[in-house]
Amino acid sequence: MNVMVVGGGGREHAIVEKLVRSPRIGSLCVLPGNGGIADLAECVPIPATDLDSIVAFAAERSIDFAVVAPDDPLVMGLVDRLEAVGVRCFGPNARAAAIEGSKAYAKDLMRRYGIPTARYEVFDDVDRALEYAASAKGPMVVKADGLARGKGVVVAEDAVQAGAAIVSIMRDRVFGASGERVVIEERLSGPEVSVLAFTDGRTIVPMVSSMDHKRAFDGDTGPNTGGMGAVAPNPYYAPEIADACMERIFRPTVEALRAEGRPFRGCLYFGLMLTEEGPKVIEYNCRFGDPEAQAVLPLLESDLFEILLAVSGERLAEADVRFADGASCCVVVASSGYPGPVRDGMEIYVGAGLPPETIVYHAGTRREGGRLRTAGGRVLSVTAVAPTAEEARARAYAAVGLIHFEGARFRNDIGMAGGSIHGS
Ligand code: AMP
Ligand code: GLY
Repeated sequence: MNVMVVGGGGREHAIVEKLVRSPRIGSLCVLPGNGGIADLAECVPIPATDLDSIVAFAAERSIDFAVVAPDDPLVMGLVDRLEAVGVRCFGPNARAAAIEGSKAYAKDLMRRYGIPTARYEVFDDVDRALEYAASAKGPMVVKADGLARGKGVVVAEDAVQAGAAIVSIMRDRVFGASGERVVIEERLSGPEVSVLAFTDGRTIVPMVSSMDHKRAFDGDTGPNTGGMGAVAPNPYYAPEIADACMERIFRPTVEALRAEGRPFRGCLYFGLMLTEEGPKVIEYNCRFGDPEAQAVLPLLESDLFEILLAVSGERLAEADVRFADGASCCVVVASSGYPGPVRDGMEIYVGAGLPPETIVYHAGTRREGGRLRTAGGRVLSVTAVAPTAEEARARAYAAVGLIHFEGARFRNDIGMAGGSIHGS
């Protein structure tokens, strides 16, 4: 089959690294890909949000199957466009992707179907939002309704901070049209867990759990980022918690979407917080997480492409989805200044002697005349797999020690106990 993957970050590198092992893939193109993916597949310089060019490319190359990995093209309806011209897809259509594309929609869905989440109100008027924030007591969380590159959430200590967030999101439009509405919700506390799950709209099969590290600096300090590292499995996600999540969150969400006429086919991401009242949903994403994918997919033992085909053909119940027993640790190496503006073009050196079972996934890199250069905030994500979490972490950091470029920066505490517990 002729297959294309849309996207070009570390997550897409992890997906492609698994797909190239599948005997059923004849040709594999990645749009736009990156400097690391180029070693595995043909990279075509079409941006993931250029829907017209992607659809034209699919026709020109007789693409049979597309994997749409990033949030923007999913929310913009790329799957709808491709399916309309006969390309089978892994990824939700726009109506189902609204579960990530509109936080207000996701919250209302949870309220209507009794899925546990933080209490909240939605506002499309800046003065009413400010009034509400002023009258609410204690910490609260202000969220831009639409996509905001993982940065549209402000955890506010008090009404003053919440007010400033409301003004910058709704009046100054720092996240553009995403700030037409805001969700203001109660702040929850407890360990965070990411669960990525395959679903074909009926059956849901969770992958091994993981833990993201969203803050920029050690000890969970500094601004929120797209993610500075991840480990799998998540040390807080005990089997009885997994059972409770399946019963109260995962299955009800898939059923709710189907009942709403928005069956979800793809990877549904549950961002959970384990509160004293039980697990609650912090957010949904309509795709694999980044860097969670780089921690979770290396542990997948079965053929990823067969699973993606089964999802798209609504045969997931028959698919073989198996994960190894070990652990993984993924450390993101970023450019100086990330998540703010960064300087591109630094030459990247990777020393010899990578530890066993270690993979260097590329995100913001490009090849230039045989040299590898930085091209973005998150540059590389380095994953190691090992029998235990401690060994995985030791291997990942040993590998990170071999990577050099000017301004390279990473967190030193990925996978250390307590790395991502909030508010406790
Ligand atoms: P999101 O972009 O929705 O993933 O939010 C980013 C981060 O903000 C989450 O990973 C949490 O750490 C934090 N957060 C979001 N909502 C809440 C909440 N209701 N209570 C506490 N922390 C939250
Ligand atoms: N790592 C969080 C995300 O992909 O949104």
